[in-house]
Amino acid sequence: MGVSESIRRGLTFDDVLLVPKFSSIRSRKDAATRTKFSRGIELSIPIVSANMDTVTESAMAIAMARMGGIGVIHRFMPPQEQAAEVARVKRSEGILIEHPITLPEGRTVGEARRVMEKAGVGGIVIVDRAGRLVGLVTTRDVTFEDDPRTPLSEVMTPRKELITAREGVTMEEAKDLLRTNRVEKLPVLGGGQRLAGLITAKDIVKRKQFPEAAKDGKGRLRVAAAVGVKEEDVGRAEKLLDADADALVVDIAHGHSLHAVEMVRRLKKRFGDVQVVAGNVATAEGTSDMVKAGADAVKVGVGPGSICITRVVAGVGVPQLTAILDSARDGGACIIADGGIRQPGDVTKALAAGACSVMVGGLFAGTEESPGPTILKGGLRYKLTRGMASLTATADRRARESGAARGALEESVEEGVPEGVEGLIPYRGSVAEVVRQLVGGLRSGMSYCGARSIEELRANATFVRMSDAGLRESLPHDIERTL
Ligand code: XMP
Repeated sequence: MGVSESIRRGLTFDDVLLVPKFSSIRSRKDAATRTKFSRGIELSIPIVSANMDTVTESAMAIAMARMGGIGVIHRFMPPQEQAAEVARVKRSEGILIEHPITLPEGRTVGEARRVMEKAGVGGIVIVDRAGRLVGLVTTRDVTFEDDPRTPLSEVMTPRKELITAREGVTMEEAKDLLRTNRVEKLPVLGGGQRLAGLITAKDIVKRKQFPEAAKDGKGRLRVAAAVGVKEEDVGRAEKLLDADADALVVDIAHGHSLHAVEMVRRLKKRFGDVQVVAGNVATAEGTSDMVKAGADAVKVGVGPGSICITRVVAGVGVPQLTAILDSARDGGACIIADGGIRQPGDVTKALAAGACSVMVGGLFAGTEESPGPTILKGGLRYKLTRGMASLTATADRRARESGAARGALEESVEEGVPEGVEGLIPYRGSVAEVVRQLVGGLRSGMSYCGARSIEELRANATFVRMSDAGLRESLPHDIERTL
């Protein structure tokens, strides 16, 4: 048999449709989107934001977890900065903020403003050298103070005027204290007046506002963070776990490689029960090698991304639907389908093919919550997005690692072979609206397939292949669209 006869056809989302099935589902709301991010982490919606520097930092991760998904903080920053991003998510809400931001006595309004802005908090607890409560400063106290040198002692609410709670206070008791005293922040005190935490009214409201949020055992939003496979990445992982990251994502372009497998083993051995996600792979063998190494989820996708040129440059990849179907053959793996999601229907197809969740980059890069400013061009608003193997991303990484300025760009042009591109993407407003569309499409797809759960979707799914004419027929045609 010649080589060409043995070549399999690889398919992707636009090559197939799901065949409608008898459905007893009366409302799309009856289609449950609960799933797993990894062996030990449950999500209310199967949506994960990508570990790219134009997609996920703390703002995106907070928004994702509130909606019931999860964000993966990218690794293209120094370890302590990445850990601070994780800490921001962890501190953003919880039953009790165990390590609230504090300042020692004797500091100024200017310092408090800087700390509040950097940490993204609206209040700072002032403590003495022994860690005992001295006062509380909120945004209100410092906003209208003209002189930044003013001592905080002049603007803060002092200890004797503060309402506090004792360590071990229940949520109901805390709510009562906040309500009856009409205060927004409740410092929690342990033995000897030592500060043991902070409870805020904002967190209690958020609990009601986002009932589907992905939370850890302490009521804090969940967040994952990426690491590489180098020796120093073990130190990075340690910092991320100290900041209470819920999962580590071993992030390398060719995950089916010895150093990725070794890194997964190492992280599992060194950090015990930590959740480790590994990738990227595109085959059944790649997936099962990751699972054997101990991975709690496997990221699948080589080359489908909106900013990827790996397939063009290296000639390597597997069309994404086939990659998911093949990887899902190892029934034990929790698969994150990473890249190529362009339409809500792609989410349904990826999950029907066997993925537990989808990772989204480009579609989220244009939202308010992605890092970076909006750019005005020709009267329209855009945001910048780029592949993590693009020329500028590589140059920035090298410059940062060597401590040099961006001038390293020229060196990258000479030495590097980019596998990603950079470009503008239309501004789309809040990520909540994009996610609403994706999840709405998924529920609709599940209902057409007669599936009440993602497991049922997977079990019931029948794909039909489309011709080019079928795809043309699937898109709006023969009209001049107005909306
Ligand atoms: P989407 O389609 O959602 O895909 O934008 C996001 C995924 O693309 C991958 N990625 C890259 N792949 N070169 C690549 O070949 C790159 O420079 C690059 N940067 C990101 C990554 O898996 C991401 O989650």
